[in-house]
Amino acid sequence: MCGIIGHTGQQATQQFLIEGLKRLEYRGYDSAGVAIQNGSIHLYKKKGNIAALEGYLPEKISGNCGIAHTRWATHGKPNNENAHPHMSYSKRLVMVHNGIIENYQMIKEDLMAKGITFSSDTDSEVLLNLIDWEFSLTHDLIKAIKNALTQVEGSYAIAIIKSDEPNTIYACRNGSPLILGEKDGEYFIASDALAINAFANQIYYPEDKDLAIVHASKGISFMDENGVPKKIESEELVQTNDHAQKKDFEDFMLKEIFEQPDSLRRSFIQPSASSDIDHLVEKVKACNRIIVLGCGTSWHAGLIGKYLIEKLARIPVEVEYASEFRYRHPVIQSSDLVLSISQSGETADTLAANRLARENNAMTLGICNVKRSTLTRETDYQLYLNAGAEIGVASTKAFTSQVSILTQLALFIAKERKEELSKNTMQALEALPAKIETVLKQSEAIKQLALKYALANHFLFIGRGVNYPVALEGALKLKEISYIHAEGYPGAEMKHGPIALIDYSFPTFAIVTDDENRSKMISNIKEIQARNGKVIALIQEGDNETAQVADEVISIPNTMDELIPILSTVPLQLFSYHAAKIRGCNVDQPRNLAKSVTVE
Ligand code: F6R
Repeated sequence: MCGIIGHTGQQATQQFLIEGLKRLEYRGYDSAGVAIQNGSIHLYKKKGNIAALEGYLPEKISGNCGIAHTRWATHGKPNNENAHPHMSYSKRLVMVHNGIIENYQMIKEDLMAKGITFSSDTDSEVLLNLIDWEFSLTHDLIKAIKNALTQVEGSYAIAIIKSDEPNTIYACRNGSPLILGEKDGEYFIASDALAINAFANQIYYPEDKDLAIVHASKGISFMDENGVPKKIESEELVQTNDHAQKKDFEDFMLKEIFEQPDSLRRSFIQPSASSDIDHLVEKVKACNRIIVLGCGTSWHAGLIGKYLIEKLARIPVEVEYASEFRYRHPVIQSSDLVLSISQSGETADTLAANRLARENNAMTLGICNVKRSTLTRETDYQLYLNAGAEIGVASTKAFTSQVSILTQLALFIAKERKEELSKNTMQALEALPAKIETVLKQSEAIKQLALKYALANHFLFIGRGVNYPVALEGALKLKEISYIHAEGYPGAEMKHGPIALIDYSFPTFAIVTDDENRSKMISNIKEIQARNGKVIALIQEGDNETAQVADEVISIPNTMDELIPILSTVPLQLFSYHAAKIRGCNVDQPRNLAKSVTVE
């Protein structure tokens, strides 16, 4: 959450900061600001998204050193005062922050007792004023930063500029992401590589508590937490410029839904990687148990993984919310494989839960989309989605690729025992992109259905077996982008409570596929209709029996049972998308959300 960007070098800063903010906007968009050093510091901040900030900024702010921020509010409402960058009480320091300072209240009271005043409700301003206070004692900014950071608890990625020190940015991280980059004498700091990959060709990954000093002519230098100079080797950054393009689509979310045939193809593990996979599979087979960790949509993918790995590979799998796992004193054994799933690789709870697994000597595997993200650097093994940048806040193509990778993992583990099934399923997986194309062609028909139901205030999603996590994902997608209240339930559980909610105004999405649960799902549909509820059934082509029972039908092509979730998710994504558009919602930037949840 929150995106930070900084630049210094020979060229004007403003263009880099604004372009960087646009690339970081998926991390938060409730307010934004820039500060540019030009003899003194020029600070502009504004409630709203980057477009609102751009409208407010003067056309040209000269200066070759600056920092900027796009915010997702934690402490303090989204307004101009709480927007970053913050200026310290003495006005000599300006800072942007991503993270949470947990003991800010105590520090704030202490500083207030010393006569220091505050102009925002944020924890970030407390950290900044603490640094400024330490500076007033030491007259040395590096010492002041170090002294202040030893007093705070929580996570941070910060960047600071000083009113009387041109051309210089100080940056530090602990638990929140921060990278640095450079190209031809231009230097950058940012929350992630995506922010700078149009301008930089070298990237640096500092470790927690490293301090970076970025100077317009001297370049980037690092020191460790004890102030000892440190060498960090840069890595090549593949430059891309296509990040912010929606191509012919109205929204990133729709573009990403339609990219799924391609993104799915890119998730197929290549034969060239087979020796790595064989090695990983041998390691996994030696484990007694797999613990899958994730949040939100990634957790739903993990739940599908459990159904598949247990069914095909017969290894016990537990699926846990990373946020619960990390605090519930779980039993973790060295014979466990802890498999963390994260599109971004930066989700704070997933990272912390993974670290707990490492501390307990479990083997760790990360399934991730973003290369060189923190999760990939903190796991023993990695499997990549290769889905390409996912910008829409609601995860779509990353989810289908996560399920694809988990399916392949299950098949690789099961290969020796279930040779025939593994071979057939792999072949069927390769045929899925074409089947997704068929589903995408129904977008207009799904829009017509959404027109009919988009004014409902509530929705129930039900499914059994591997379709239960699909129901959860369908409900999450609908609620997060259209603000329609939606619940996902296992079909059988409906009778144990949720059915009380059903009436004519409370429609249900029933995912009914041609497996052992089909007739039971048909009974569930009838139970709902007996209480005047309308049912949209998601069925497989040719399922006339369910089609005759349901009020509305969306059909998907036939495939093997194990692969149904990848196909059945796509119409649910389209339904959510169209319902949200009909309701006038901003699907790429739903209210209160941010794509990358880097705070607890
Ligand atoms: C929902 C969504 C979120 C993320 C969750 C985890 O559409 O995108 O629920 O799945 O915040 O994010 P990652 O996968 O980056 O760890």
